[in-house]
Amino acid sequence: MNEIKIFCPATIANLNCGFDVLGLCLDGIGDEMIIRKTAEKGIRITKIIGADLPLETEKNVAGVAALAIVKAADPDIGFEIEIHKKIKAGSGIGSSSASAAGAVFGINELLGKPFTRHELVDFAMKGEALASGCEHADNVAPCVLGGFTLVRGYNPLDVIKIESPSEIYAVVLHPHIEVKTSDSRAVLSPTVLLKDAITQWGNVGGLIAGLYTKDYELIGRSLQDVIIEPLRKQLIPNFENVKNAALQNGALGSGISGAGPSIFALCKGQEAAEKVAYAMSNSYQDTGIAFDMHISKVNDEGVKIITN
Ligand code: HSE
Repeated sequence: MNEIKIFCPATIANLNCGFDVLGLCLDGIGDEMIIRKTAEKGIRITKIIGADLPLETEKNVAGVAALAIVKAADPDIGFEIEIHKKIKAGSGIGSSSASAAGAVFGINELLGKPFTRHELVDFAMKGEALASGCEHADNVAPCVLGGFTLVRGYNPLDVIKIESPSEIYAVVLHPHIEVKTSDSRAVLSPTVLLKDAITQWGNVGGLIAGLYTKDYELIGRSLQDVIIEPLRKQLIPNFENVKNAALQNGALGSGISGAGPSIFALCKGQEAAEKVAYAMSNSYQDTGIAFDMHISKVNDEGVKIITN
């Protein structure tokens, strides 16, 4: 196999209570990448369609992630990467992670899979660090592994794929404004109050327990964020109205997707998700800001090879 085409899914990070540790993988929304073996060693980004991103390997998240896996594998060949961006940069649904995950997944496949998917998360995180200024794996982990994921620890990286109920649907409202992850991280406080930390880690535990036991009410009660959302919500026009519309129309929970500006809701079942999507989009009409809506099941597979 000399060439491979890959689907690199979008992701929702944080899931309210799990800043930098929780995430889930979306279906049907994602980039495509083509990766080719070359006789010449090294990594070259040959084409980027759909976004104005650097072609220089060291300045591109896919390039940096590719360099990390190639350094570890040390093959006698090189790779060319073509990126077809469908996820907008600064959208809050893991645009940079999709590129980083796609690069390491594709190269690993072309090398005959020397690394496990779990090992690929670490390489992909190196690319993600270029985009946000900090190594966080809550988008790359679900993109590479699929499903819901928890980063149990960063030093060393310890990622767990969480068993989850089949009826969870995610709704995402993506306003067409860009919020850079680095800017969205700059508004955060480096310290938290103990009472808020207690609320937050109680909710992380509750969410994980709810996912394993398929207890949708517990999942809903746990989708709360008392630390990050209060500081970030002012970056997202009409955030409170959209979140309230989702909750009043039956969403289990709602919050900022990753670093924003996308706003997500989790729902039980497709019908509930469609009702929530309708209410969320209605509540955004008056802002004058264009937006996209996505409804997606949780994608249990993650980044994958496509054949057409
Ligand atoms: N956990 C990260 C953040 C995700 O919220 O800053 C950004 O992609």
